[in-house]
Amino acid sequence: MKVLVSDSLSEEGVSKLSEHFDVDVSTGLSEDELVEKIGSFDALVIRSGTQVTKRVIDAADNLKIVGRAGVGVDNIDVDAATEKGIIVVNAPEGNMLSAAEHTIAMMMSMARNIPQANASLKAKKWERKNFMGVEVNGKTLGVIGLGRIGAEVAKRAQGLEMSILAYDPFVTEDRAKDMGVELTTVDDIAQRADFITVHTPLIKETRNILDKAQFDMMKSSARVINCARGGIINEEALADAARDGKIAGAAIDVFTSEPPFDCPFLGLDNVIVTPHLGASTEEAQVNVAVSVAEEVISVLNGGSARNT
Ligand code: NAD
Ligand code: MLT
Repeated sequence: MKVLVSDSLSEEGVSKLSEHFDVDVSTGLSEDELVEKIGSFDALVIRSGTQVTKRVIDAADNLKIVGRAGVGVDNIDVDAATEKGIIVVNAPEGNMLSAAEHTIAMMMSMARNIPQANASLKAKKWERKNFMGVEVNGKTLGVIGLGRIGAEVAKRAQGLEMSILAYDPFVTEDRAKDMGVELTTVDDIAQRADFITVHTPLIKETRNILDKAQFDMMKSSARVINCARGGIINEEALADAARDGKIAGAAIDVFTSEPPFDCPFLGLDNVIVTPHLGASTEEAQVNVAVSVAEEVISVLNGGSARNT
């Protein structure tokens, strides 16, 4: 059987697959190229770069499984795949600690202006007064989406002596109490939090969950973080709020369109950005690649999948 790996996948995953199947690693394919190529493959393994559109699914005459080496399946037309009997699996746990650590790193970098100060000193400037920061100790962090990554972020922020507010319609009061977290609404978080971080999937209920109305409610000292998916925070509203001083800053890892070269806040000094690095650690990439490889091996050998 044949497996196509169309985004960069850790060697551990590729070699596991190669023990069982004929593996073709071809990255950077356009949609047309993927449509042309997919017909003979039994499995497709991707990260976030490949868009598995309905056109791709329609052309996938032998495909049995799409494996997403990561969490978000928003780059896959899951309905089209399901309709055709193609299983879609992800790797929900392998990168959660890396994504949580990146969120904390972004929060601390933003609080202390580290990217801006680094760029300034490397340009041979000594501008200590320009980079006055804030402590996170004693501050309130609002977590929107208290799932795997949101919960790990909350735990780490509590270690930094922050108080946690959270909004997640699927988390019970008992669970929140166990975690030492106060459940509330998005608008209450917008009004009370010093830092706000989003960790939901991108679905219609979460698209633009932070929009102009919420930015208008925030403290002028508020700072927002998105290490989940572009579009959960409205990018235009964020750019306006950061530019007009309605908030103090933002730290963004993910964008509605990637690479985000037309993004409205890319040129703002008080917005720091990284190129979708949340899961980019050696550990996470091995974890997700091995997890997806195991799923593909099981399904193509007639077994079941764990993470559908
Ligand atoms: P998860 O499924 O474990 O948690 C998501 C949480 O969002 C759940 O608790 C769910 O109840 C909650 N939720 C669903 N609808 C909601 C709504 N309307 N309002 C508020 N909360 C809602 O997912 P996760 O593994 O924690 O991943 C979170 C996000 O991080 C996903 O978007 C994922 O794609 C993204 N992610 C990004 C990176 C990166 O590289 N930056 C890495 C890993 C994951
Ligand atoms: C994910 O959803 O797992 C992340 O966005 C990381 C990735 O793109 O691999």
